[in-house]
Amino acid sequence: MHTRGTATRHNEPERVFQGRSSRIYDRLTGLLLRGVYRRIAEDIADAAPDGAAVLDVGTGPGRLLAEIARRRTDLQLTGVDLSPDMITLAERNLRPYGARVSARTGDVTDLPFPDASFELIVSSFSLHHWTEPESAVPELARVLTPGGRLYLYDLRFAPFTNVVTAARERSLLTGRPHRSTLIRTGSPLLPSCVRHVMSNPAR
Ligand SMILES: C[S@@+](CC[C@H](N)C(=O)[O-])C[C@H]1O[C@@H](n2cnc3c(N)ncnc32)[C@H](O)[C@@H]1O
Repeated sequence: MHTRGTATRHNEPERVFQGRSSRIYDRLTGLLLRGVYRRIAEDIADAAPDGAAVLDVGTGPGRLLAEIARRRTDLQLTGVDLSPDMITLAERNLRPYGARVSARTGDVTDLPFPDASFELIVSSFSLHHWTEPESAVPELARVLTPGGRLYLYDLRFAPFTNVVTAARERSLLTGRPHRSTLIRTGSPLLPSCVRHVMSNPAR
């Protein structure tokens, strides 16, 4: 999961998320990290309002979206990822859930959605791969509805501080006070991760 240090051109997926590597990532995470996705999906299933539109940024092969879809059949779920190969895998993994779940290619710094499209945005283990986390902030705030919430999950070293600082400097995501929590996943491979929750102000 961790490929920090890999040289990446902006707007180009890292090699580890393309071709054969993306298929290996899909198989390994499907086998080894199911408990982690379940733990995060429980959070999102509890937090999402009735009938909400939910976006998963850096969805990879869509494993988290599948777990959310199983728990909440009322939600409209969308995944977005820089890697077209990951999106191909996500489309395959999400097929059983029909039209209420979809995935498309896109960059967190230039999201292919209109303003105020989603009541909740989640992202798991993607933030530490974003080449410009600061540039993601205005886009995340733009596609969230007023009062919409952002749930970022990642490893402890992920650049959460860059996101929080960029939001503060631009007076974005100034809704409820920002919360950071250590989450126990119950998974031996990845026993804990950090959750940051931020939100847009209500209108
Ligand atoms: C470690 S994987 C995590 C995938 C999935 N969320 C999970 O938990 O298994 C990181 C994902 O973030 C995607 N990604 C990296 N930079 C991105 C960006 N700027 N915009 C959208 N997705 C990005 C990668 O293509 C990759 O699929």
